[in-house]
Amino acid sequence: MTDPTPPRGELDGRHIVLGLSGGIACYKAAELARALVKAGATVQVVMTASAEQFITPLTLQALSGRPVFGSTWDAREVDGHANNMAHINLTRGADAVLVAPASADFMARLLHGRADDLLSLLCLARAIDSCPLIIAPAMNREMWAHPATQRNVAQLRADGAHFFGPDSGAQACGEVGEGRMLEPDDLLEALIGFFRPKPLAGRRVLITAGPTFEPIDPVRGITNLSSGKMGFAIARAAVEAGAEVTLVAGPVHLATPRGVRRIDVRTAQQMFDAVMPLAPEHDVFIATAAVADWRPAHLSDQKIKKDGSKVAPLFELTENPDILAAVAQHCVAGRPFCVGFAAESHDLLKHSREKLERKRVPLIVGNLGPATFGRDDNTLVLVDAHGHRELPQADKLTLARSLIADVALRLEPAAR
Ligand code: C5P
Repeated sequence: MTDPTPPRGELDGRHIVLGLSGGIACYKAAELARALVKAGATVQVVMTASAEQFITPLTLQALSGRPVFGSTWDAREVDGHANNMAHINLTRGADAVLVAPASADFMARLLHGRADDLLSLLCLARAIDSCPLIIAPAMNREMWAHPATQRNVAQLRADGAHFFGPDSGAQACGEVGEGRMLEPDDLLEALIGFFRPKPLAGRRVLITAGPTFEPIDPVRGITNLSSGKMGFAIARAAVEAGAEVTLVAGPVHLATPRGVRRIDVRTAQQMFDAVMPLAPEHDVFIATAAVADWRPAHLSDQKIKKDGSKVAPLFELTENPDILAAVAQHCVAGRPFCVGFAAESHDLLKHSREKLERKRVPLIVGNLGPATFGRDDNTLVLVDAHGHRELPQADKLTLARSLIADVALRLEPAAR
């Protein structure tokens, strides 16, 4: 029997008008339409005549499961509105208009409040306070960098439009630079984040994640079991909550969440050296990294070989700096607000409370180590000086969002 309650989609209940203007990135809009629908949104596609040169309305209709609109003079009913005014009805009840791809020409027309096709007309006719306009630009790098386009972007922002991207990289024209439309997955992640509450707007959050690797010789070393998933989920949740996020990551194979500044390090000392100068510039420090407690006292610059004597080599170890304790020690008036993690195999509450006191931090997040390593879900317990609160089993992004919401409530109101 199939599960009667399908998993909640991140965009359940959202109604998105997806506008396509002319550009080769229209092919990505097909995948985007599919991704939005899979995430639970209803997607109403509107295409300009130029967009129809790149991809057929039929493709978008099949993927969105709704008729596609293109002409201002289209007299079909929209969602039961009998007045035949598609340019008005299409955005009524919509949670956002997302134009992806948005060409340079389309942006120029938007800027001037032109309304000479259905898509620009509905952007003008939307309720500006309740139906945000999001623009995902896609164009050649020279077109993007042109002062006219940059002027238009600045004015569109001032008029309240939001921008997702563009990205930089290889372009369909063969050139390399800024102007690529974001990939469908990135646009989906950005849109999900767009709708999240913003309790950390104007705040800066510094996060450590993953293991560290302490080399013994050029081919081997000491490390901890840690996938980095929890820390990366927290970085994503903090960006969604409106924060500016810096993520100092040990060696992990994870994609950087959108909008996060990432600094890659390998050893605990490198992590310490990266974190310490950054910490005073941040409002929150969340130490999720599984930092190796010790490192070999001497690094051999050549591979240590078996010498046939059957006597195993002995390694002298030296203690690594405690990054969390050092940041907590240098706090000024409680800033940054420090959050530590405790991965334990037993007596979680007792060890978490000990860590709270030993590291002198206001919040420790406990989790049972072997049960969570590398997995996509987890259970957390938040321990502070007053007591503890359990965050029941959920996927790591859901837990990260709850943790971020909790931390936001603990911060002093932001200075104005
Ligand atoms: O007791 P333990 O040192 O394992 O505490 C774990 C917490 O301290 C985690 O938040 C971890 O990121 C942080 N930590 C650190 N530097 C270390 C060891 C642990 O920041 N050298």
